[in-house]
Amino acid sequence: MPLTDPYAPQSGPLLSQASTRALDGDRWVDPDLVRHARHLAARGSVLLRNEGALPLAEGERVALFGRMQKDWLAVGYGSGGDVNPPYCTTLVDSLREGGRVQIDEGLAERYETWCAQNPAEPGDIWGQWPMSYPEMEIEDEVVRRAAERSRIAVIVLGRAAGEDRENVLEEGSFYLTSSERRLLAQVTDAFERTVVIVDTGGLIDFSWLLDYKVDALLLAWFGGMEGGRAIADVLTGVVEPGGRLTDTIAVSYEANPSARNSGDPEGNDYVEDIYVGYRWFETLAPQDVLFPFGFGLGYTTFEQVASVEGDSGEVRVKARVRNTGARRGSDVVQVYLEAPSGALSTPSRQLVGFARTDELEPGAVQELEIPIPQRSLASYDDSGATGHRSAWVLQAGEHRFHVGADVRSAQLAGAVHVPDLVVLEQLEAAAGPRSPFERMVIRRDAAEAVDGETPVLSYEPVPLAPHELRARIVERLPEPVHGTREPESAGSAGAGGAASVPSFTDVVAGRSGLEDFVASLAPRELAALTYGDIIMDSPLGPAGNAGALGGVTEELRDRGIPAAITTDGPSGLRLAAYASLLPCGTSLASTWDPEGVESMAALHAQEMIRKGSDILLSPGMNIHRDPLCGRNFEYFSEDPLLTGSMAVAVVRGVQSQGVSACPKHFAANNQETNRTYADSRVSERALREIYLRGFEQVVREAAPRTIMTSYNRINGVWGHYHYDLVTTILRGQWGYEGLVVTDWWMQMAPDPDFPALRDSAYRVRAGVDVLMPGGREHWGTDREDSVVESWGEPGGITLAEMQACARRVLEFLLEARIADRERHPQAKV
Ligand code: BGC
Repeated sequence: MPLTDPYAPQSGPLLSQASTRALDGDRWVDPDLVRHARHLAARGSVLLRNEGALPLAEGERVALFGRMQKDWLAVGYGSGGDVNPPYCTTLVDSLREGGRVQIDEGLAERYETWCAQNPAEPGDIWGQWPMSYPEMEIEDEVVRRAAERSRIAVIVLGRAAGEDRENVLEEGSFYLTSSERRLLAQVTDAFERTVVIVDTGGLIDFSWLLDYKVDALLLAWFGGMEGGRAIADVLTGVVEPGGRLTDTIAVSYEANPSARNSGDPEGNDYVEDIYVGYRWFETLAPQDVLFPFGFGLGYTTFEQVASVEGDSGEVRVKARVRNTGARRGSDVVQVYLEAPSGALSTPSRQLVGFARTDELEPGAVQELEIPIPQRSLASYDDSGATGHRSAWVLQAGEHRFHVGADVRSAQLAGAVHVPDLVVLEQLEAAAGPRSPFERMVIRRDAAEAVDGETPVLSYEPVPLAPHELRARIVERLPEPVHGTREPESAGSAGAGGAASVPSFTDVVAGRSGLEDFVASLAPRELAALTYGDIIMDSPLGPAGNAGALGGVTEELRDRGIPAAITTDGPSGLRLAAYASLLPCGTSLASTWDPEGVESMAALHAQEMIRKGSDILLSPGMNIHRDPLCGRNFEYFSEDPLLTGSMAVAVVRGVQSQGVSACPKHFAANNQETNRTYADSRVSERALREIYLRGFEQVVREAAPRTIMTSYNRINGVWGHYHYDLVTTILRGQWGYEGLVVTDWWMQMAPDPDFPALRDSAYRVRAGVDVLMPGGREHWGTDREDSVVESWGEPGGITLAEMQACARRVLEFLLEARIADRERHPQAKV
């Protein structure tokens, strides 16, 4: 059978094209989900500048420029965008449909004709999709005449990137093209007012704003199938642009703290350490910021008055928000900690809490209380500088809270004093660097803060991991489950023996215990449970699924074990069927509205059930370390609290309906360049405070049933082999009880600590339960059998280790009630 990529023909952003293909299933989408998607896409759009241009007045004549008005981008590329929506909206059609403004139809027709002659081909070669499309050249005279007909021009620019498709520092990607610049010059010269909309999944260069007279700038993140309507709603003032930036916009790419240490195919030293995004800019380089983290305008204005109550054990920020403008709207209160800089240097601002008000009428007031957990005040000591290595500590001194509408304008609202250092949690070191490099330290003592001196940047050697991994693993090897009898061959059963052969259906019905069932499984069966079905698009699920796990062999199904079906992804169900295309991760995070996101995720979960998906491979929650990462659109923010809070919302929403979410990619998957090999070399402190922090939050607050490891290496070890990340930290220190699966087709490799192990045997020893899919290589049909092959070999995998992973798979199937679920009628088997 020829090997084909079932997704290849569906790739690309021009989803209106994809939707014309004959697909299984109907086009029905839940109108409630559609309403939520439209509302959140609008709420997530960020108005960065508005000098009297927006909202457009009712009946206003508007000239639309730029091909993207028609070729509107709804999502980015790869597994996170490859959805077949029943329809997609565009900006020009949505403005027409709304009927609130009058489009310059002559101009629109000119674009329509040109776009038809120069179609925006999304391309179907994986990883080579276009990042932008050539812009139509337009004569000065045409622009001038259009300016006689309309007072206002709207220019639409667009950029896309994605999985295996990094943004690059070139025109047409991070930078504007000369045609786009020419268009900006022509239109801003001719029109009284110019509004620019950037339809993108990631940040681009915005320094061009200094060169043209742009009256309003709206950042429209990929809003999914309702994105065009959402932005039309915003432009015409039906709703507010409610978004606040989830990343800092710097004056140039080079100004970003990651810029010099990113994109290397071998790997990168995370030299900036904890000074990611605004933590760097606000502490040391405020002059390098065009738009600060948290910033975004609405159509009304607010006043925030805040105070701080409690002590360091329990801080509560109270904020009184008043709508001081003339329109209805909602505001976001953001709380930033300025922690004392002691033995551990700290950034001058860290987001520690936020809340969004209701929609307030002009003059209306809302009081909000934002609790700040004690852990938010703590720093992680990875060097022993405080005398407490591997501990979360509260440093002595004033912890000040700045409250406001963005990181830069937040005002001091109060402080709590910590007289002496407090050790909040003593942990053991894990996952730290094993090769030396230098990291940044920014000293900013109290005196400097008071007299305004510039904090001082220096470098120090990153503390190396103090422990020997092999010894840790050997000491903690699991015990076999109660009642296990050591089997003689791979096929022979455990304690239950061939005589009784219990069925998993008995466990589901409560007639028999899980432990006994696990003890009864033969090594071959145990090993089989640690693999997904060999291929994506498993015949066990609806066409186009991402793969199955659990009862993936006939032998396992004969034991009554059902299969669970996975589907991508963060913006919608990736199936060979129509499915809703929702706002991308950055769009959702820009709403700063976890409640809204949770409600939408619950409705999305109902679509999962209708379409036969048990596990949604979402949320994507890697940190926006660098603006060039191609998958930033799937992820939320440069900030871990915002990332964690959004992930909690998605997981809670999805799991509230009984189906499961799968936060990914654990961890430090911050570039697409050579993503299955590149090493993220990062201090344990930056891991704990930045890159793992959101995952910790989602585990503690939302208990996802599955988590996906990352492709990349973290301090020399691939995510899917990372004992310290998965077993020491995730399960041991955070108490995670769910399933851990690999990202699709992990890198095969020998275990450097245990010469008898390789590939999946290495993975099982790390505590990573399931290889997804179960094949040896991309799209291959060969089984990868290293687990059962290693069992019984000297130094090989133990029965207890196989049982531990298999048990977690079975626990997941029980917990997620997979056996109870009726399979979707579209399922092929
Ligand atoms: C991506 C994952 C995705 C998986 C399945 C991988 O290439 O990194 O995010 O869930 O494929 O499509």
